[in-house]
Amino acid sequence: MGLGSAGLALTPIGSQPVQAVGALPSCDLGDVYTVPRGYDDWSVTLVDRLLRVGADYVPPDLVKLSDVGLPGGGYIREVAVEDTKAMAKAARAAGAPIGIWSPYRSYKEQTQIFNGYVAQNGFDSAITYSARPGHSEHQLGLGVDFMSAGGGNPLPGDWAKTPAGGWMAKNSWRYGWVLSYPRGEGGTRWNDRTCFRYEPWHYRYLGRDVAAEVHASGLSIREYLWKHHTTIDRSGKPVVVATRTPSASSTPTRSASPSSSSSTSIGPSPSAAASPGGTPNPSTAAGPVVDGPPPVDTEQGPLPLVLLGGAVGLAGLLALLGLTVRRRRAVR
Ligand code: DAL
Ligand code: ZN
Repeated sequence: MGLGSAGLALTPIGSQPVQAVGALPSCDLGDVYTVPRGYDDWSVTLVDRLLRVGADYVPPDLVKLSDVGLPGGGYIREVAVEDTKAMAKAARAAGAPIGIWSPYRSYKEQTQIFNGYVAQNGFDSAITYSARPGHSEHQLGLGVDFMSAGGGNPLPGDWAKTPAGGWMAKNSWRYGWVLSYPRGEGGTRWNDRTCFRYEPWHYRYLGRDVAAEVHASGLSIREYLWKHHTTIDRSGKPVVVATRTPSASSTPTRSASPSSSSSTSIGPSPSAAASPGGTPNPSTAAGPVVDGPPPVDTEQGPLPLVLLGGAVGLAGLLALLGLTVRRRRAVR
């Protein structure tokens, strides 16, 4: 990690060895606790390829989408509910109704997702579009994959070109939501400022004030929070160190059992890393949560028709034989 060149300066905060953050670091992988990361610091807590929260980070105010009148299954932080409802209402009124495809994910669920991608496509591919556990905005309860209402999986194609995706790209910041992973320089899919590929469906709730600041700055969330709000805590053990040579079934972590965060302010039991209340997250309850392969996009070209035909043919054959093909939900 080129942190030395990032211009860090030591800043004492309590007894924690905390470093103020300077220039945006490279996209090298690392594992240090992000500061601030208290549950009340939700609007300025940054996770990225370096910064993480603990395995026991489970927001205390997660609410079921279905209980608060939001379209979709799963959970979201209560702090985001009113603005999200207002946003959904405005999108609907504009003829671009939105739904929620994948909201909060526990550390455990993100582990399953990341491992699934690694098993499918290899670590070097997975890391470009899937966050390692502890590093995902979904675990903050404030990262959401949106979809078009009734439209299904938003991953294939460019969701920003749909009415709902286009409306979100233009208006979401007014309701506190900002696109986390925009395209890179020159419109490329890879963005070396966010360190992820373009995800037109993945938004982060920052609250209206911070969202307006990020929008006005022209920076990505990562750049803005690095610049204005983030320090890092080197007191914790690096517990999520990814290996680049996983076997198909291996975990991407070297550490057998991640210890809980050393944070003084985020101390729920690690057992809470499952969905709240012990209830499976509805968005993931159907089985193992795995992401699909990278969506077909214009840079990658369409899925070869011969493969597509083969898959359809196999599914048809299995259907004829009375077997069902278990569909796994693609999430990011
Ligand atoms: N797909 C985003 C980066 C995540 O896994 O959180
Ligand atoms: Zn996402």
